[in-house]
Amino acid sequence: MARNKVTVIGAGNVGATTAQRIAEAGLADVVLVDIVEGMPQGKGLDLAEAAPVVGHDARITGTNDYADTAGSDIIVVTSGIPRKPGMSRDDLIATNAGIVGGVVTSAAAVSPDAIIIVVTNPLDVMCHVAMRASGFPRERVLGMAGVLDSARFRTFIAMEMGVSVEDVHAFVLGGHGDTMVPLSRYSTVAGVPITELLPEERVKALETRTANGGAEIVALLKTGSAYYAPAACTFEMVDAILRDRKRVLPCATYLQGEFGVDGLFVGVPVVLGRGGLERVFEITLTADEQAAFDRSAAAVKELVAALPA
Ligand code: APR
Repeated sequence: MARNKVTVIGAGNVGATTAQRIAEAGLADVVLVDIVEGMPQGKGLDLAEAAPVVGHDARITGTNDYADTAGSDIIVVTSGIPRKPGMSRDDLIATNAGIVGGVVTSAAAVSPDAIIIVVTNPLDVMCHVAMRASGFPRERVLGMAGVLDSARFRTFIAMEMGVSVEDVHAFVLGGHGDTMVPLSRYSTVAGVPITELLPEERVKALETRTANGGAEIVALLKTGSAYYAPAACTFEMVDAILRDRKRVLPCATYLQGEFGVDGLFVGVPVVLGRGGLERVFEITLTADEQAAFDRSAAAVKELVAALPA
């Protein structure tokens, strides 16, 4: 049986860490691509040399040539520039739209059946760019944001409650930005909603910290943005797809009427399996939650409208 092949475009912090996770789990062979010559080859070789010690058989290589990525099952897009302190994700739009459009055109041409996972920010807008550049159907273009935002929310809930992260579930919907919608009513400790476990102002504080989770890391790092958690979350999506796990995960998805939104990428829970997006997992929102979701979708729409044609 042929092994799965995952191409990771952008061999920087998020890309290289994602590649490491995929290879070390033995999930797939990995091809790391970057525009910088020698760097992806160097990181690929370095990661390959860890294999005898870590103990896996995945092949991991680096390249500057898209021919080497041909026949990939998944294409992970992390190429672009990250945020600097004081920048919002939206400040990256023009530069990263050019980069994402170019790399997706090259990669999709040689892997026409691949599933694309976009990680580059501003996330929801870059998903639009990737869908346009690839011409792929919505089932095969997904964005990694909700898994990360939910992981951050879970971390903060576990810290607050003094319980294991394993027993904490959280849902964050909407765009990957300041308007994201942490759904506390559906966020639980051992199945009990946090709205029943914590006073309202603590719930609000955790929601706010989640929405600012990326900026909190950027302010501390000063020279880049988060990558350990983003890579772990990207890995979770790759794993759900390649092992056809039917995981229910929040992903940026091109909505066609679901949640009252049409023709826009916004974060919603979906069922992820070998076909990529297998089903949008619709849940009932209260009027307040729907209003917050609509505001978030409107913010994404404004950015998409600002994209160069
Ligand atoms: N083709 C291929 N690679 C490119 C291109 C291109 N046209 N342009 C830039 N790159 C590469 C850079 O050379 C760099 O190695 O993308 C990589 C980005 O890596 P980092 O600068 O380390 O950024 P990282 O922290 O990995 O974040 C990447 O993910 O989370 C988002 O907001 C973040 O948009 C950013 C992206």
